Amino acid sequence: MAVTIDLSGKSAIVTGGGRGIGCETALLLARAGARLTIADLDEAGAQRVAEQIRVQGGAAIAVKTDVTRMEDAQAMAQAAWTAHGGIDILVNNAAVWTTKLFKDLTPQDYDHDLRVTLYGALNCSRAVLDAMMERKSGRIINLISDAGRIGEPYLTVYAAAKGGVAAFTKSLAKEVGRFNITVNGLAPGITNTPGAAGFIEGAGGAEKIARAYPLKRLAEPIDIANVILFLASDLSAYMTGQIFSVSGGYSTVG
Ligand SMILES: NC(=O)c1ccc[n+]([C@@H]2O[C@H](COP(=O)([O-])OP(=O)(O)OC[C@H]3O[C@@H](n4cnc5c(N)ncnc54)[C@H](O)[C@@H]3O)[C@@H](O)[C@H]2O)c1
Repeated sequence: MAVTIDLSGKSAIVTGGGRGIGCETALLLARAGARLTIADLDEAGAQRVAEQIRVQGGAAIAVKTDVTRMEDAQAMAQAAWTAHGGIDILVNNAAVWTTKLFKDLTPQDYDHDLRVTLYGALNCSRAVLDAMMERKSGRIINLISDAGRIGEPYLTVYAAAKGGVAAFTKSLAKEVGRFNITVNGLAPGITNTPGAAGFIEGAGGAEKIARAYPLKRLAEPIDIANVILFLASDLSAYMTGQIFSVSGGYSTVG
């Protein structure tokens, strides 16, 4: 018998779902049967993705959300609950990065990177947790980055924010395991998205960067979404508090 991943009837929120990895993740979870809430600061982007899911026969709503604002995170959770009758899966995907040497970063740059990338994951997790605890079931999946695991010049504060998300992932997993909620993270290597385009160009282009990758190519968003689907599914039911590198073998440290 074939093994299938069936998320029918599950309600999934993807933050930053309006483009890039978040968009691909939302489309894939919807193909597996989940009912989606696309939460993005870019309302038009979120609406486009939700519409695409509906055209393909799925269920999706778009909610304009600034993950730095707790009120927005709570409204996002409420909208998901109202539209889809619960919250089973949260993908903390929204993040921003300022690509500069540390000596050139301003406190305003720090503030923005930390607020979206670290606080955003905290706010959205906090907003969905009561609902998941009450049902004794849930999946929280945090986008981390190899930058936060092995360090990356020009991305110091972003790396610090992602390192914070990684530590949060492990710690929250230990708190909420008894409620049958798993919390895992995945750390993509450089992935071909609108957000990464400037970084890829600045580093000499995809082909040049890919030479350092054992699999000799950069990730496409679907490479990352596939692992998120696995973490959202019952196939990963006995794994929690883990961070997976999805980097074509670029980073192999624990
Ligand atoms: N692309 C890469 O090379 C790469 C590598 C490692 C990790 N990641 C991680 O993967 C995730 C997705 O990256 P991507 O490249 O697809 O990003 P992207 O920039 O292409 O898309 C990010 C989305 O987040 C939204 N967003 C930004 N600020 C927000 C806010 N305050 N509230 C709500 N939404 C907001 C944007 O509108 C956008 O739709 C991020 O967590 C990123 O750190 C990406």
